[in-house]
Amino acid sequence: MKIVKKIAELKRLIKLVKNKKKIIGFVPTMGYLHEGHLSLIRIARKHSDYVVCSIFVNPIQFGPNEDFNRYPRDFKRDESLLKKEKVDLLFYPSVKEMYPEGYKTYVEVEGLSSVLCGKSRPGHFRGVATVVLKLFNIVQPDIAVFGEKDYQQALIIKQMVRDLNLNVKIITAPIVRESDGLAMSSRNTYLNTEERVNATIINQALIWARDVFYKENIKSPEYILNRMRQMIEDKGGTIDYIAIVDKETLEPVRFVKKGDRILLAVYFGRTRLIDNTAV
Ligand code: PAF
Repeated sequence: MKIVKKIAELKRLIKLVKNKKKIIGFVPTMGYLHEGHLSLIRIARKHSDYVVCSIFVNPIQFGPNEDFNRYPRDFKRDESLLKKEKVDLLFYPSVKEMYPEGYKTYVEVEGLSSVLCGKSRPGHFRGVATVVLKLFNIVQPDIAVFGEKDYQQALIIKQMVRDLNLNVKIITAPIVRESDGLAMSSRNTYLNTEERVNATIINQALIWARDVFYKENIKSPEYILNRMRQMIEDKGGTIDYIAIVDKETLEPVRFVKKGDRILLAVYFGRTRLIDNTAV
């Protein structure tokens, strides 16, 4: 596996790969990899001949009071996991390499970026869209894989790709969960033992919501969301948001139907966890 830290060097190597008519698959990450990331890499491998992964903790997608500095990092472990997955190239730039002095350009995907996580984390999706567009321009992938745990992020990236006529196909991949149902996340490492146990209620509440729709034919979002809220609060979670929305527009639905999306963000202690499911 080649490890490249400089944009110019990466572009030079990508040109050689493109000359060989290879299909490039790309998985952007912020590192501290888990099975969820590795599943994205395996999907990228299925759709391409040359897999590029990036590790970059992107400062501009973190708010001033968020966890940029304490975001978990373990490059050596990540490197060995990626080698095992036979990733062809790892792009590992510095903040200075990505945002040199005088950097001034940002990407704003309107609408989708201002609801749910976007409302709680102003500027977050602007930072995500900006770094992903930069990474796409640098890596020039034919396909890129994003996890559905960040459902809103994947929708925003797809909108950006459409709006800016980018030549990359976005593939989304199912959420990977721990054996007790908690969605895998690098941030799970922040949870203490009690919070970690209690956080399993998030997935249980999502399963309950789907069951009550399919088995009891309950279509009221208010009823479902109130019960979910209660279940989560009883376990010590603090709800940031919880919503049942149209799967494309992210607008709240009046009546729940198959295919709608239930999304939520919940704090356990200081740790903010997100999760979602299709109805
Ligand atoms: O999902 C993530 O890990 C990040 O938001 C991404 C897409 C790598 C951009 O920094």
